[in-house]
Amino acid sequence: MDFWQIRGGRRLSGSCEVQGSKNAALPILAASIVCPCRVELLHVPQLSDVDTALAILRALGCQTKREGERVWIDSRTLTHSEISHKLMARMRSSVFFLGALTARCGEALLSLPGGCQLGQRPIDLHLAALRKLGCEIDEAGDNIHCRSRELRGCELTLTFPSVGATENILLAACAARGETVLHGAAREPEIVALCRFLRALGADIVGAGSDTIRLRRFQAREYVRFAIPPDRIVSSTLCCAAAATGGDIVLKAVDPTEFSAVTDFLKAAGCVIIQNKHALRLRAPQQLRSAGALYTSPYPGFPTDAQPLLMAALLRARGTTRITETIFENRFRQVAALRRLGADITVRGCTAEIRGVRRLYGTEVTATDLRGGASMVLAGLCAEGETVVCDTGHITRGYESFDRVLQELGADVKWTAIGMRDSLSELPKG
Ligand code: EPZ
Repeated sequence: MDFWQIRGGRRLSGSCEVQGSKNAALPILAASIVCPCRVELLHVPQLSDVDTALAILRALGCQTKREGERVWIDSRTLTHSEISHKLMARMRSSVFFLGALTARCGEALLSLPGGCQLGQRPIDLHLAALRKLGCEIDEAGDNIHCRSRELRGCELTLTFPSVGATENILLAACAARGETVLHGAAREPEIVALCRFLRALGADIVGAGSDTIRLRRFQAREYVRFAIPPDRIVSSTLCCAAAATGGDIVLKAVDPTEFSAVTDFLKAAGCVIIQNKHALRLRAPQQLRSAGALYTSPYPGFPTDAQPLLMAALLRARGTTRITETIFENRFRQVAALRRLGADITVRGCTAEIRGVRRLYGTEVTATDLRGGASMVLAGLCAEGETVVCDTGHITRGYESFDRVLQELGADVKWTAIGMRDSLSELPKG
């Protein structure tokens, strides 16, 4: 169990650099096994999900080493193609090992992945695409056995631009004979990052960032050094935190175009945004105004991951905001806790209506999932008195030193973990 204690009422101000992207790092860690190689990754965020990915790599027989933000993986020693249920259940991103192991070993034995409970999160699109690439897949309850004697490149079309399915397909396609053409691909910056990494590893890929990606051939290299890009959802979180508190912050070493859907909305709510290629300054008014209606959608639309954070920023805005969640069926889990802090929110189906209130009041709430938990911390920053967010490791799955980052920007936040280290130490060492 861990606790976030927040004393609200402080305006965030100052500048900070943003951690490496979780959702870019995780598929890239899995990609380090598509061929026998040595990989050096820079700017890797220190998160429990990254620890889990490294534990999976070690369980497969790879050598791993970590020093701060640097991670080394030697996948030449990989010996296994099976991942235990315990490791698979720790996070959603364990699913990337399905494509990566099949590419490397012609086989993967694993179970359905865990991760945030945001509603149904099937992997039917991943499995259908792998079958088209030539895999035989047996599903028995939670267990998946994927085998292929030879992966064959082909034309694939995703009926929805699933981020994870796009990544799994690209990983498997590295070992396919002939060209793979993926139509309907996700266009998220994390896909572009994975393609850049695979290119460095020897893949001839074009089209990353568009809805058609072609992987023409793969000629394995032995060594790759790669820097994980900054996390656009953490950047969005800090912008929402500053907006919620009437703050003035500068984010350094970021790509503001990657989270412009969020900053455009904050601009419409009254914030002043000044940006260049690698930095962004956000100056918020004392009180935001409602900016009307918002729909989450795949990139470049408004990211579902930033939806709970923007909601927290708008709790005290003048007027009414409507947020419609179109990606996940159960991504308003933060609402009950925000209401306990005094927020006026009604949810009908997939639309939440937020009527701005004058004040929020600190109380004790429980984090429901990663971004939902972060939204409670943000609400606590602008609530009167003390807010305590009780957590079971959700927030630290995605935010590196969130307490320290917020403290450096002037917030009064304290994080206390009880027993967290003990549960992490259960993971295999190496
Ligand atoms: C990725 O999840 C992110 N995770 C999520 O970030 C993010 O919310 C999501 O993309 C959407 O942007 C990582 O990158 C590790 P999807 P993913 O496949 O890949 C349905 C965070 O907070 N679907 O694009 O799981 C699915 O049910 C997290 O950092 C199928 O129906 O997302 C959902 O409704 C949480 N069948 C929608 O597509 C499939 O086979 C989007 O899922 C796959 C997905």
